[in-house]
Amino acid sequence: MTTDNKNINPETLFVPTYKRSGAPFVRGEGMYLYDTDNKKYLDFSSGIAVNALGHAHPLLVETIAQQAAKLIHTSNLYYSEPQIEFASRLIKHSFAKKVFLCNSGTEANEAAIKFARKKAAKISKEKFHVLSFSQSFHGRTYGAMTATAQEKIHSGFGPLLAGFHYSPFNDIKSANDILDKHDFAAIIIEPLQAEGGVNAADAEFLQFLRQIADSHSISLIFDEIQCGTGRTGTLWYYEQTGVTPDIMTIAKPIGGGLPLGAVLCTEEISASISPGDHGTTFGGNPVACALGSQILDIVSDKTFLKRVQTNGNYLKSKLEEIRSKYPSIRSVRGEGLLLGLRFKEDFGTLVDDCKTAGLLVARANLNTLRFLPPLIAGLEDIDKAVDIFENVLKSKND
Ligand SMILES: Cc1ncc(COP(=O)(O)O)c(C=O)c1O
Repeated sequence: MTTDNKNINPETLFVPTYKRSGAPFVRGEGMYLYDTDNKKYLDFSSGIAVNALGHAHPLLVETIAQQAAKLIHTSNLYYSEPQIEFASRLIKHSFAKKVFLCNSGTEANEAAIKFARKKAAKISKEKFHVLSFSQSFHGRTYGAMTATAQEKIHSGFGPLLAGFHYSPFNDIKSANDILDKHDFAAIIIEPLQAEGGVNAADAEFLQFLRQIADSHSISLIFDEIQCGTGRTGTLWYYEQTGVTPDIMTIAKPIGGGLPLGAVLCTEEISASISPGDHGTTFGGNPVACALGSQILDIVSDKTFLKRVQTNGNYLKSKLEEIRSKYPSIRSVRGEGLLLGLRFKEDFGTLVDDCKTAGLLVARANLNTLRFLPPLIAGLEDIDKAVDIFENVLKSKND
């Protein structure tokens, strides 16, 4: 930062949508971020599950430079080569037959809801209802926000969209009751909730949703924006559940840090969409798509995924050790490298205290603290993070 900028208080510049403080970050390298005072932070939050390959990965840096020198933007009135390469890979590596490209998670969910409603509208005008589940997080735009079943996210923004309904997560009876009451176009669920406190959907619950979606021509949407793209040790989380969705939304790590999201869907969903039904100026940007292909090539590799599983299990066992020593911690949650510690009560300033001690972790709902390291995190990184974390916890409990 220049001397001039050092005199600016950033709080005076931004609409306060985030509560943030401290010296700004200036650079990153591998597992570490550095601020303007050159203080080093071990990054176990990955820009909220984005930086899958850590910071300044040489391959990603080179890909950006090469693609930027060739083509930065066209428009979606034309195809671009990186888009085709990226979409082919998404189809090759998933259940999907068709892909829509956008810029973010919330946009992917908006598109998914629109596609599901368009398909349902061909069956009946009344078939527009959408079901989602408590503690979900689907984004901040109106459709995605309305689908997010959290009062605090809705507060002050009404009226929300019509036709959205909520049911408790993992509760088959309640879901069945509400599904009986209206004509549903879509059910949207994070098979592993992240922001909502790291909560995995039960296999029986997902099987029930799949069955009811099939029997009532409802589109089953899996939001894998945070839990997908290798984070849990399989490329997509649905592979671990035995249930395949009709639509899957992805974003966050897929763009390697550039804004990129996608809707992956079946042929049948895609068949109800015509030119002009939906669109985006920047979605599927060539540079972001070139990174997307690189990320997919690396993250879909079986050895890479196996390492995520092994290292995730190692981190989980270390967190279990901590839990056994601290009665304030209720449970260890999650899969692969999407892990959470659920505390019995609000853990106050713990995330900030970890940052002061040089470790970045993230808060989630229900008193849950998330560990979301880059997927390249090694055993030594995990040992170091756990050490810092335990020291902070100890100092607060002394
Ligand atoms: C599961 C899930 N869905 C959707 C979103 C929204 O994504 P974005 O912030 O890219 O709009 C998030 C972001 O945290 C998420 O975790």
